[in-house]
Amino acid sequence: MKIFAYSVRPDEIGLFHRFSKKYDVVVDTTDRAPNLETADMAAGHEAISIITTPVDATLLRRFKELGIQYLSTRTVGFEHIDGIAADSLGIPYGNVAYSPYAVAEYAVMLMLMSLRKVKTIFAKEKIQDYSLVATTGRQLHNQTVGVVGTGKIGRTVISILQGFGCKIMATDPYPNPELQKTITYVPLQTLLSSCDVITLHVPASPDGNHLLGKNEFAGMKDGAVLINTARGSLIDQQALMDAVESGKIGAAALDVVQGEKALYYNDLRFKPIPDREFATLHSYPNVIITPHTAFHTDQAISDMVENSIKTCIEHVGKA
Ligand code: COI
Repeated sequence: MKIFAYSVRPDEIGLFHRFSKKYDVVVDTTDRAPNLETADMAAGHEAISIITTPVDATLLRRFKELGIQYLSTRTVGFEHIDGIAADSLGIPYGNVAYSPYAVAEYAVMLMLMSLRKVKTIFAKEKIQDYSLVATTGRQLHNQTVGVVGTGKIGRTVISILQGFGCKIMATDPYPNPELQKTITYVPLQTLLSSCDVITLHVPASPDGNHLLGKNEFAGMKDGAVLINTARGSLIDQQALMDAVESGKIGAAALDVVQGEKALYYNDLRFKPIPDREFATLHSYPNVIITPHTAFHTDQAISDMVENSIKTCIEHVGKA
């Protein structure tokens, strides 16, 4: 069994070596992304492993011609794969699970950083302004936090938050019976109008529709704090900018943004940012932006590589 892994980062190389030995399979790797130019590198392999590069129908067709029997993405989200094309071509594909603590702890960190105005504190410290002007924060303990989506990550966020003693509400079309014993599930609109902090833990909607737009922002509490470690497409960014400028949103922390693929994981130092909406969001003192790094822990990376290899073996077999 031979797997070809694309977009392999330096922090994954050693793990691919370790887990290919552990599972007794051959894994060849490249740091290049999968596309029509690099597709033929996968010739002679039965499965491929990718990360977030879009894989469309044309590319899938090429992989099919090359005899690829399984496509694994080393991510939880899989909206970058054209699922309809993969199904019609008969290429099974799958995502991986990894430690939910990576994203959950990061989301809680962003809540604390937003409530305690850390962006302002860091900016002031940098210019030796050690006054207490504009740094009054809010205690997480006193807040009502709304968790949108109670899959593995949302549930882990809740378990961490329970230690802070804050009030917690959740929304999910499929409430978790265990969780229902300790927290209140409410419709999204109720959560938005009742919570001081709102954190998103749902996948991108298949049709690309925003979960939060103008109406949803209007229905929030004044000064609400919004955390997004899920997907940029969940939020209408124009509406978010209006809500930040009007004060409706008191603070936001975004690990994901719309159009991030043009920016993230590139070194854009000394270059004009090719995204004016992003540059505006970046300029707000109460908006923290991080470059889709919530997942990035040693444990999560190890899980991503190991589980990608395991799912390839499960689907193709070792022989
Ligand atoms: C995912 O696993 O879905 C992520 O968002 C992390 C990915 C960017 C590596």
